Amino acid sequence: MTLANELKSIVGEDFVITRRDQMMQYLLDETPQAVKPVPADEVLVAKPSCSAEVSDLLKLANRTRTPVYPRGGGTSTVGGPIPTTNGIVLSLERMDRLIEIDMDNLMVVAEAGVTMETMLRAVEGKGLLFPPHPGDEGAQVGGVVACNAGGSRAVKYGIVRNYVKGLEVVLATGEMVSMGGKLLKNNTGLDLMHLMIGSEGTLGIITRAVFRLYPMPAVTAVLLVSFGDRRTAVAAVPRVLQSGILPLAVEYVERDIIDISAHHLGMSWPAKRGDAHLIFTVDGRSEDEVYALCEQIAAACDASGSVDTLFAETKQEQDTILRIRNELYGALMGDLAESLDLAVPPAKVADFLDAVERIAREYGSRIPNYGHAADGNLHPHLMMDLQQRGILWEVKDAIYEEGARLGGTVTAEHGVGRSRRIYFNRYTDATSRRLMRGIKDLFDPNGILNPGAAIE
Ligand code: LAC
Ligand code: ZN
Repeated sequence: MTLANELKSIVGEDFVITRRDQMMQYLLDETPQAVKPVPADEVLVAKPSCSAEVSDLLKLANRTRTPVYPRGGGTSTVGGPIPTTNGIVLSLERMDRLIEIDMDNLMVVAEAGVTMETMLRAVEGKGLLFPPHPGDEGAQVGGVVACNAGGSRAVKYGIVRNYVKGLEVVLATGEMVSMGGKLLKNNTGLDLMHLMIGSEGTLGIITRAVFRLYPMPAVTAVLLVSFGDRRTAVAAVPRVLQSGILPLAVEYVERDIIDISAHHLGMSWPAKRGDAHLIFTVDGRSEDEVYALCEQIAAACDASGSVDTLFAETKQEQDTILRIRNELYGALMGDLAESLDLAVPPAKVADFLDAVERIAREYGSRIPNYGHAADGNLHPHLMMDLQQRGILWEVKDAIYEEGARLGGTVTAEHGVGRSRRIYFNRYTDATSRRLMRGIKDLFDPNGILNPGAAIE
């Protein structure tokens, strides 16, 4: 039997795609053109409906040594799900059952193919909060866990890793393993579940997850503070945090790119003054409480040299600001060679941005930035002119070198995927890489799971 027929016998005739022209959407993700990996020629797409089918599919792949490329919502910005050798794209899209919102334990149980959008709306409908918010709600549960997604709410609530309590995983051998559970404390041996989180599809296929939920805050508010320049803006962030306030999010954006995003949406950026802006989101139990928090933030920013403060009072004003911010990546895509994802210690953000500015000047270009200021996580935005002038890689090397010098990391929330492997290898010590390699070999002895991604 051919591989395609064997796959059909596992997942059903209708759920295997063999024709190239019908599978294009499974060969893409959100990675910018300049660093987008090229998909291999002979790829099959299979869409199992349950973990038993995932298990049978992996047994087949393991026996025939066929590479398997797990795929969720396809929102990776680093080529994570692109099948770069001949093999099988395993799409989890049909495993889209939201199993349970457990009101007594404050947990949600969802299959891997449930989108963030579906899960967030369901959870919110019960008056609860799934605190992390990866920007693109088209991302799916399995993907956000496999990539340990971050997002803007990490300042107060942390990242996806902090909310995963249980996982169902199918190993490369086809064995099914349950890791963790509806447990807030669990000290049983080595924590395999946390190895799976952030493994980018290289250790096993996540088929189901249990997440912890929080109560929904009663009131949220958005404060948009403007500054004359980058350094003054980011230097205000530690001042705000030192004043005893812990915002839900502190986002940093620059005038020239945020105007492009606003224009893209047919909207206009409400801040009229300043070239660098901080967007603070705060939450609390009452209007008075969040209003007082906003006043304190405004005062701390004022003392740090802000030029304007806009308090978004209505839900619509808040949504406008957050929407324009969230659209940045999509709006800038047309002129984007690569959006980086470094993190430095939060207090080093100003030094890092100074370094990016110096590198931009040295190469006679402009490098706008945006990101999650209080997390130390910046997305320097490298435009196509660098690629066209043949200096993209030189500029990137210089930025990564500065990030490393400041004690940073090459990827904070997007993962290594395929496009950042070179930097992962450069800046991860040999001993750590050897240990990761050993773990990979133990979980996936034949190297069939997402080969070419992340840890190799
Ligand atoms: C953002 C994505 C690109 O911060 O991480 O918009
Ligand atoms: Zn981001």
